[in-house]
Amino acid sequence: MSANLKYLSLGILVFQTTSLVLTMRYSRTLKEEGPRYLSSTAVVVAELLKIMACILLVYKDSKCSLRALNRILHDEILNKPMETLKLAIPSGIYTLQNNLLYVALSNLDAATYQVTYQLKILTTALFSVSMLSKKLSVYQWLSLVILMTGVAFVQWPSDSQELNSKELSAGSQFVGLMAVLTACFSSGFAGVYFEKILKETKQSVWIRNIQLGFFGSIFGLMGVYVYDGELVSKNGFFQGYNRLTWIVVVLQALGGLVIAAVIKYADNILKGFATSLSIILSTLISYFWLQDFVPTR
Ligand code: C5P
Repeated sequence: MSANLKYLSLGILVFQTTSLVLTMRYSRTLKEEGPRYLSSTAVVVAELLKIMACILLVYKDSKCSLRALNRILHDEILNKPMETLKLAIPSGIYTLQNNLLYVALSNLDAATYQVTYQLKILTTALFSVSMLSKKLSVYQWLSLVILMTGVAFVQWPSDSQELNSKELSAGSQFVGLMAVLTACFSSGFAGVYFEKILKETKQSVWIRNIQLGFFGSIFGLMGVYVYDGELVSKNGFFQGYNRLTWIVVVLQALGGLVIAAVIKYADNILKGFATSLSIILSTLISYFWLQDFVPTR
């Protein structure tokens, strides 16, 4: 049962990551009139959708009884403030991480950013070994290094992208690099911390995700206020939302659910392999189906 859930969750993660990448790319190339949606509000909407989906899953687990649902939410979330507060740590780190990646992308070209961010595969393994006492064999370490190198090569800048990177000053490259390196450590730490909480305490993965989403929504709303407060008060929270925006937001929320399931039934290291598999899959779809990508040597 648990082995089935492991491979099912990993398979859905590959499908979810691939469709999110392709839909986001499609939504970016689509020309629409009017203002574009604000990504800060999309983050909050995805967190709220995630909480709603998790509440539905807890409702289903409690045999569709509203009274039982109410009791579980009360007992497991409201009456255990210290347990709930534990989730503020990964949630705050993930918020910081999303902001760091924004700083990184403003100071580095997309390809350099992607290559460097793959270092998170190794930091995740290091945190798994030190915080969860996981033991990895020499072959497993070797596979991780090969995976990281392979993914980094796939993302390596092509000639035209190198031209763009030369336009960025050395100082700004340094800021970008520091941001992405810090994000590698925060990604590894937050993922493994969440895995530790899931595997060492009794609360269900959906309760844990509601707690994570609660703090995520609060931090996300702070982000909307700081980055886009003026735009929101002028054009509204949902400015620029269209059907495609909703698909992206739903896929993002689904991503949060699937990542949580993968961390519970598999682990963070296998999550790295699943997302890398999705790079291969989206490359194949881009090349054979969408025909908007020609692979270089
Ligand atoms: O790059 P990395 O794999 O660390 O990104 C993980 C992403 O998954 C973060 O953006 C985080 O907000 C999200 N996440 C989630 N729910 C979880 C765990 C992670 O939405 N339970």
